[in-house]
Amino acid sequence: MSDAAAVTIRPVRADEWQRWRDVRLRMLRDDADYFSTRYDDMVREPDAYWRDWAADAAAGVDKALFVAEEGGRWLGVVGAFARVDAREVQLVSMWVDPDGRGRGVARRLIRAVATWAAGRGSTRVVLFVQEANAPARRLYERAGFRPTGDRTPAGGGRSAFKLVLAASVHDLLA
Ligand SMILES: CC(C)(COP(=O)(O)OP(=O)(O)OC[C@H]1O[C@@H](n2cnc3c(N)ncnc32)[C@H](O)[C@@H]1OP(=O)(O)O)[C@@H](O)C(=O)NCCC(=O)NCCS
Repeated sequence: MSDAAAVTIRPVRADEWQRWRDVRLRMLRDDADYFSTRYDDMVREPDAYWRDWAADAAAGVDKALFVAEEGGRWLGVVGAFARVDAREVQLVSMWVDPDGRGRGVARRLIRAVATWAAGRGSTRVVLFVQEANAPARRLYERAGFRPTGDRTPAGGGRSAFKLVLAASVHDLLA
């Protein structure tokens, strides 16, 4: 089935921490250029790290993790956490399986984050995107994100840069 309607977007459950670890490690291995976090660092994290991450996200108070699921298969994920400034949440770990790309899955994951942000009273979503990541920049621009003008080293020992993008929750849900 190829229509996006067959894909369900839902919060992760605490008992799914191993699936979260698997997909997180996969994105960091297969799409390493697009993430600041390094596979070699994450693969060393103990089970407790992933358990805590999934449990906190499932609680959904200061952290969230949404999965795009089709027939039991995870097609994509996105995370978010509350920033020190309670008006802001940060979108992280956006990834769609290559088999599921181009079907609007990422757009729906952004919407899930915006809905979560609205539910906790936040008004702005911010994120980092690698300057060279044209597909992701296009995705975020189409969804309503705009550059804040901040540009910082990409990290991970690379010479690349990442940009800060921001959008109002209102615009993302319009
Ligand atoms: C970027 C990524 C999340 C997009 O996921 P996706 O589900 O294919 O995106 P969608 O189908 O929801 O596309 C939404 C919009 O993004 C744009 N877009 C997505 N992929 C694109 C591509 N490869 N080239 C150009 N534009 C693209 C399109 O403009 C599309 O809008 P439109 O259909 O209205 O034109 C996915 O390619 C991915 O996981 N990439 C590797 C990891 C990554 O870069 N994560 C982001 C880190 S900041």
